Amino acid sequence: MSLRTEIEQAALALREGKLVIFPTETVYGLGANALEAKACAAIFEAKGRPQFNPLIVHIADSSRIEPLTALVPPKARQLMEKFWPGPLTVVLPKSVAIPDIVTAGLPSVALRVPNHPLALELLKAVDFPLAAPSANRFQGLSPTEAKHISDKIRERATCLIDGGKCGVGIESTIVGFQGNEVYCLRLGGLSIEAIEAVIGGLIPSPKSESPMAPGMLAKHYSPEKRLLLWNGVYPSDPSRFAFLAFQTPPSTVKFKHIECLSAHGNMVEAASHLFSKLQKLDSFEVDGIYAELVPDSGLGRAINDRLRRAAFGNRGFSQ
Ligand code: TXA
Ligand code: MG
Repeated sequence: MSLRTEIEQAALALREGKLVIFPTETVYGLGANALEAKACAAIFEAKGRPQFNPLIVHIADSSRIEPLTALVPPKARQLMEKFWPGPLTVVLPKSVAIPDIVTAGLPSVALRVPNHPLALELLKAVDFPLAAPSANRFQGLSPTEAKHISDKIRERATCLIDGGKCGVGIESTIVGFQGNEVYCLRLGGLSIEAIEAVIGGLIPSPKSESPMAPGMLAKHYSPEKRLLLWNGVYPSDPSRFAFLAFQTPPSTVKFKHIECLSAHGNMVEAASHLFSKLQKLDSFEVDGIYAELVPDSGLGRAINDRLRRAAFGNRGFSQ
């Protein structure tokens, strides 16, 4: 089937309220018509996701935000102009057009224009926005290749558009606004440094009782196997474990399987490999995975955030 026909079929399914898996530059999304509450409810059901987690609404270009938001602060406008299409999500006051299920009852909506030709074609082929979380089961790894998508998710979607590997490979950075001031809700594929270069310093995120983004839940982005942060201490039998290194590790490291995020320490490449390397290590016959943190700047902060959440609550491997 040609890509054009695939996009048309996917658009048709979306018009009928069905689910479609599509590629973005960050990760694959499980999309539905964002203006149809019932279609969006099917996303939660497919993901096994608690209802309190709101969804990101994807649009083809910034001109399409007008009917969806009640207010766009000047700094939001600046960020959209500079970084859309791209891995930045802005959370703005919502209009009545957005069903409550999409925002989990919050008065705000998360909006983004993905930088992927197939996602943009799909968004242009329909005359409504697409609500789309990452196409994984709740708390699982985000898929950065079509082959990572589990059967459980795959069988709920009418179509899967295969766009190969996602270039950025880590979810979008999410920012919120307090008046015209900007704060970070989730570290992601656009660095805070790049954002601050455009609009100046961010303010601290307001504290909230309920997690505003599941990317903020302590436990998230987890492989099936137990993941531990590497503290330099070997388990008694390293040959039963896998290791995720930042750069090529010295040949003295004695784990059963070793994957590195970027041989020469390129952080953009490292981010793009994070989930696919974790998927790969997760598929091996090992008792668990050790992962080393990367330098904590730029996209490294988003990578470390994912690794810490994947390791959350894991107390060490019993021998
Ligand atoms: O890169 C991405 O953002 C990918 C691709 C598919 O676009 N999507 C993604 O969606 O990561 P998901 O559902 O896995 O994460 C969406 C995040 C959640 O952490 C959610 O809580 C947050 O966006 N979010 C959505 N609406 C929000 C709102 N009104 N206020 C605060 N956070 C919000
Ligand atoms: Mg997700």
